[in-house]
Amino acid sequence: MKVPGMLVMTQFITYVGGIALSMPIHAQSSRWEVPASAQNIKSPYNLKDPKLIALGKKLYSKHCNICHGAKGKGDGVAGLALNPKPANFTTDAFQSQASGVIFWKITHGNPPMASYESILSEKERWALVAYLRTLK
Ligand code: HEC
Repeated sequence: MKVPGMLVMTQFITYVGGIALSMPIHAQSSRWEVPASAQNIKSPYNLKDPKLIALGKKLYSKHCNICHGAKGKGDGVAGLALNPKPANFTTDAFQSQASGVIFWKITHGNPPMASYESILSEKERWALVAYLRTLK
């Protein structure tokens, strides 16, 4: 009885190890594949609302600061060894994107960045978009 259980466990570890190993390779080769429809995602909230921006700022320091850096320049300590590097939110290239695209990226992630769909509510993700807009 013990042996088959052990086997399954070993296979599971090998499987999980395989994912961990393949992640950096993925991260290097894949760019964000954002569907064209993301351009049209509209915020139900006013992105200039100071209360929404304040919520975004709070969430940013809790969840994003560590990789993207305190000022959003992509220089957070946990991002130093990542490939690709965490995005710099202060650039024109970043700020010229539609808000719906930024929202989509936060929602879905792209390795090594996680998806925040199940971690943050829709309102919280829009609050982050609102805050990122203040970093230009
Ligand atoms: C583990 C580190 C890490 C954390 C934590 C993290 N990110 Fe990222 N983020 C990245 C990396 C790396 C990229 C670049 C990915 C790429 O270009 O494929 C990225 C890219 C992005 C982009 C797309 C940038 C662009 O050029 O369009 C947005 C938007 C973003 N992050 C927002 C956030 C927000 C908001 C949070 C917090 C809720 C967050 N990230 C947390 C690592 C992280």
